[in-house]
Amino acid sequence: MTKQDNQFKNVIAHAKEYGYVAQSSEIYDGLAAVYDYLQNGVALKNNIREYWWKSMVQMHDNIVGIDSAIFMHPTTWKASGHIDAFNDPLIDNKDSKKRYRADVLVEDYAEKLLKKAQKEIDKAKKRFGDSFDEEQYKTTNPRVLNYLSKRKDALQRMGKYLDANRLDAVKALIEELQIVCPVSGSKNWTEVKQFNLMFGTKIGASANNSMDLYLRPETAQGIFVNFLNVQKSGRMKIPFGIAQTGKAFRNEIVARQFIFRMREFEQMEMQFFVRPGEQMKWYETWKERRLAWHLSLGLGKENYRFHKHEKLAHYADAAADIEFNFPFGFKELEGIHSRTDFDLSSHKKHSGKKIQYFDPEINKSYIPYVVETSIGLDRMFLAVFSKALQEETLENGSTRTVLRLPEVLAPIKVAILPLVKKDSLPEIARKIQTDLKLDFTVVYDEKDAVGRRYRRQDAVGTPFCITVDHQTIEDETVTLRYRDSMEQKRLKIDQLKTIVSKEVKMSNWLKRIHL
Ligand code: GAP
Repeated sequence: MTKQDNQFKNVIAHAKEYGYVAQSSEIYDGLAAVYDYLQNGVALKNNIREYWWKSMVQMHDNIVGIDSAIFMHPTTWKASGHIDAFNDPLIDNKDSKKRYRADVLVEDYAEKLLKKAQKEIDKAKKRFGDSFDEEQYKTTNPRVLNYLSKRKDALQRMGKYLDANRLDAVKALIEELQIVCPVSGSKNWTEVKQFNLMFGTKIGASANNSMDLYLRPETAQGIFVNFLNVQKSGRMKIPFGIAQTGKAFRNEIVARQFIFRMREFEQMEMQFFVRPGEQMKWYETWKERRLAWHLSLGLGKENYRFHKHEKLAHYADAAADIEFNFPFGFKELEGIHSRTDFDLSSHKKHSGKKIQYFDPEINKSYIPYVVETSIGLDRMFLAVFSKALQEETLENGSTRTVLRLPEVLAPIKVAILPLVKKDSLPEIARKIQTDLKLDFTVVYDEKDAVGRRYRRQDAVGTPFCITVDHQTIEDETVTLRYRDSMEQKRLKIDQLKTIVSKEVKMSNWLKRIHL
């Protein structure tokens, strides 16, 4: 098992042990690629959602939020193109009987080439020291050039073949690149086949008057079909956005990697409606704004990168992913897509409704273009959680497991710990808890030695521990312990709220992006 595999296994085990995530219906051996959020998990998820919502809706005068239904009229999915084009190209390995997404096999191959190129660059960096010019090396070193051009060629060809639905050519490419099955190690592949990812269901009581429906595979269509409702009722002027968060469902065939790829998951999407011709400007703006949102959480700039799509979805004229350095490498965390007027035009055609906008500034009616930002809440959860989980060696040689969640997102902000269970310390601690819980999520813990209690809170990710001891009785002071530095400060009880508030309050974090 590689170091990365091990690290990822720890993330999954830690998530379960500390009340974050467990497999759905686990007592019945679980359901593949479906997960439940436990007591701390739901709080972390809610906090991420709130941070996104406030940044997108509250902080933008021209963005409003909605909550549309999961069930939608089936024509929605004809109009959106999902019935015809929401497919994954799948390929089986005949020896291992494992099924893969053909495009993911090629992308993994391309990623390996990128890693090889990076290894060469890192080696040269070490060799040449301060005088090293990375850009020049990338564009002149034959070995690096060879890796990068092979990578580009593979991705471009795959994009072209998939666009033209040339599945035989995709298979031939996999064979030509000598891609082997990670399980059997063989190149014994089946044909590539398209597989629709939507879950079907029925609405209505009897067989003759029931209607076939789909569970929505994205929340975006609920926004498009409400474009006129929101624009007219809110007297919205272009450019403006509509945001929503909610569940989406995809029958993912290659469902691995914990909550990275799920069959039931949650999206946070925003459609920004703009004047035709201005979409590229807004596309760049939203790429920048979304990256700033991510960076504000302090998980490390080096853990993000943009990946421009070679193969564009049926609705897009430009698209990029914000990729994150997950425990299994850089993968898509969020998509920013310039969706043209594809969706609104198609809904106009299929519904017969006059979906358009009169722009008073230019005295013209048109169908707006759309720039979309779309992030998976569960994937964001995994990004935050996996980066936060750290094993540290302390000065005395012992180790501690600490979940360095950004304070604003931590499920529990404060733990209150009476040093002993007597001498009226529990009563004082409870009093502090009663006061602080009006503002923060607080837990009370009096079991075990205080050192063990600190470690327990470190592992849960609680940023502050307040310890009540005998000195508290004399001078109304307590110790405030910081999770990350383990520093302890002696403070007056009445100072606690202000100090904790400064670190955990969402408005202070939002300021980093918006002011
Ligand atoms: N409306 C556009 C759209 O849905 P997408 O790239 O298919 O675009 C957007 O999905 C985001 O949703 C992804 O970047 C990812 O974070 C999340 N996502 C997609 N499929 C997912 C899955 N099976 N499990 C968890 N998250 C998923």
